[in-house]
This record gives sequence, C-alpha cells and structure tokens, in this order.
Amino acid sequence: MEDILVGLDIGTTKTCAVIGVMNENNMVEVIGVGVTPSKGLKNGVIVNIDNTTASVVKAIDEAELMAGYEAADVIVGVSGQHVKGQNSRGVVAVSSRNRTIAAHDVKRVIEAAQAIVIPVDREILHVLSKEFSVDDQIGIKDPIGMSGVRLEAEVHIVTGASSNIQNMIKAVEKAGFQYRDIVFNPLAAADAVLSRDEMELGVALIDIGGGTVDIMVYLEGGVAYSTVLSIGGIHVTNDISIGLRTPIESAELIKKKYGCAVLDLVDPSEVVEVPSVGGRPPRKLLRQELTQIIEPRVAEMMEMIERELMLSGKKEMLAAGIVLTGGASMLDGSIEAAERVFNMPVRIGMPRDVAGLADRVATPQFACGVGLLKYGLRMSQLRGKKLSPDRGGSVFGKVKKWLEEYL
Ligand SMILES: Nc1ncnc2c1ncn2[C@@H]1O[C@H](COP(=O)(O)OP(=O)(O)OP(=O)(O)O)[C@@H](O)[C@H]1O
Ligand SMILES: [Mg+2]
Repeated sequence: MEDILVGLDIGTTKTCAVIGVMNENNMVEVIGVGVTPSKGLKNGVIVNIDNTTASVVKAIDEAELMAGYEAADVIVGVSGQHVKGQNSRGVVAVSSRNRTIAAHDVKRVIEAAQAIVIPVDREILHVLSKEFSVDDQIGIKDPIGMSGVRLEAEVHIVTGASSNIQNMIKAVEKAGFQYRDIVFNPLAAADAVLSRDEMELGVALIDIGGGTVDIMVYLEGGVAYSTVLSIGGIHVTNDISIGLRTPIESAELIKKKYGCAVLDLVDPSEVVEVPSVGGRPPRKLLRQELTQIIEPRVAEMMEMIERELMLSGKKEMLAAGIVLTGGASMLDGSIEAAERVFNMPVRIGMPRDVAGLADRVATPQFACGVGLLKYGLRMSQLRGKKLSPDRGGSVFGKVKKWLEEYL
C-alpha cells in the first residue's frame, strides 16, 4: 500500500493539512489540502488543547475529502520561542584497526556531539549534522570510508520544551491521528522553498507567520543557526485595528487587500475604503495613511530579525541572501521593507518541486505544511518502511534519524 502522509502545520492563525504521496517520478504529489483557522494557539504554542484538536480534525477532514483517501500518519510541525538551536562538537578516535571510518564511528561521534546538558524539562527534536573533520582535514560531508585516526563532528541540535511538544502530540492524538514525526517548522519550510544551491551558498530562511518568526540559517549545506521570535502578522493587524478604530476582522481584511510595508511604494492619491463599526457607513482613507500605520511595525520586525542574524555571527556569510516565507511575507512591499533593513537580496519562498495540486499550495502560507509532507515522505522512503516515531527514543534512534536526514 502506498504511503499516504499528512503534513500538519498547526500555526497561530491557521491549521493546514497537506496530504500527499511520493509519485513514480520520485516527486511529492499533493492530493489534498485543508485549511481552517486555529483557535487554540498563542505565538506558536498551544494554550487550549480542545480548540486545537477541533482545528486539526477540521483541516484533516477537509484534506481527506479532497484527496478521497483516509489520512494515514501525520508529520507535525512545532515552533514557538521555547524551541532553541545550538551548535555542538564531538570528537572520537577511529576504532577500526585499519583506521577506515565506518558507519559506527559516525554514530559514535554524533553521540559525542550530542553530549550536551539538556535541562530535564526539554527534549531533543533534531540533531543535524553540519560537517566532519578527519584529522586536520575540515569540511568533510561524508567521512565514511575515509582514513584517519581522529573524527570530529559539528552538529546543530534543536531542543524544545517537553510540555509544549507533548501538548502538540496530545492535540493530534485526541483528533484521532497518529503522529510519525515531529519536525521544527523552519526545517520543513526550508525543505519546501529553498534550493540546494542556496543552502550551499549560505541563506537565511525567515518564516513570518501570524505570531512567530522562525529563523533558520544554512551554510555549506547544513544548518548553522536557528531561533524563533514571538512576533508576526497579528501585530500588524492589531496596529491597524487600533489606528483606524476598526474591528480586528476588518483590520485583517484591509491589511490583506490594501496593506503595504513601504510608504514610497504607494501612490499618494490612492484612496481605500474602511468598514466602520456599529452600522455606520464605511470611511474613505488615503492608502498612504494605512501604510503609515504598517510601515513602522514591519520595519521593527525586520530590525528584530536583523539583530538575530547579527547575533548569529553568520550574516556576512549569506551569499544567497534572505528568503522570506509564511503568510505575512505576502504583505505588499515586504521584499522592499526587508531589503532596506538587511541590505542584501531578498526573495519570497513558495513551495517548489511538487506535483498534483501544486497550484493549491503555491503560496508562502503553505511552505511549512508542504515541507512537513516532503520531509515525512523523504524520511519514510529512506527508512524503506513505516517506523514508529523515533523522537526522544534511543540515542541510536536519533543518530539514525540524523543519518537518514543526511545521506
Ligand atoms: N496577503 C496578505 N497580506 C498581508 N498579510 C497576510 C496576507 N495573507 C496572510 N497574511 C498574514 O499572514 C499571517 C498568517 O501567516 P501564516 O499562515 O504563515 O501564520 P501561522 O502559521 O498561522 O502562524 P505562526 O507560524 O506564527 O504560528 C497573518 O497575520 C495574516 O494576516
Ligand atoms: Mg506558521
């Protein structure tokens, strides 16, 4: 039986389910999509399990109906400020008598690199290998089969608060689905929107959602930095709601329809219509006045992201620039607003290289959902069969997971 998986992105504003299979051309084929507003989250973290479960049921039902298949296992995304990335190194002596590096040496060195102190209330989500060194030779991608006496690994470890991760799992299980893997959102989004070349050259993926900004920096094909900020498009909507004294719902509509992040891009004579509260007639407003509310907030968000990039120490290495994705990147002028602050080329990332209902998911809002599906299908292909979740399992499980991600 074909492996039909669901990429499940439980975001702050919307929950989306993307059902798909790996087709005969080895491409991810989307066969069903469901999107519904999320009610139970704040800044990417579940604050109400029952409401979240209801959103999960609705999104997957909708996707199943479109697909004409019952969903099998689910790949769940996780984000929120509790998720942290850190780099670590490990060193081992090559054990075999002929000093040829074998798979078990790689396993041992990754184990060594994982030997960091993790507080009891946190757990490891990913151990991502960046590169290896064999004796004095650095920058090796695949050391198996090489000769040497000392093997060193550089990894990026992503951890999250156990309680938040457990709540994600609970919400999915209460909805009646089994999760196969839990994946840090931007790792999935990167899978959907970045090219291998960009990852090699150096790129920062920035997913601007409703309540979180996920940042993931790739250098030489590996993850070099990752973090999450508690900001997003909701802040912009709130500012519009207050600034124009209009309900949140209409502020959201106005933002999507007329919003712009950069004043210079707006025609000074352009007029837009704002619905009023309490049955009063709609008001007319210069689009520039609306932009004056949005511009400073977007600039502030970009500056917060810029600070993170500077803090990472990797900003000067991003030869492929910045890729923005997530719903809030769809705001008119977001590229210009970002380029002003980052001073480097910026593009919008949409899901790429998918077959089937590709046009249904061809917006930045689906980057994470499509990425989760891609990630899950690729992983199950590498495993060759269905496996129980390996997250939090034995160290070997994690190493195996890493190996699969890497090879
Ligand atoms: N066309 C548009 N113009 C401006 N903003 C938009 C547009 N479409 C969506 N957004 C904004 O994108 C945000 C939602 O993005 P997304 O769906 O990626 O977030 P999420 O995954 O639900 O949340 P998060 O990732 O933060 O948990 C909302 O704030 C919404 O207003
Ligand atoms: Mg999101």
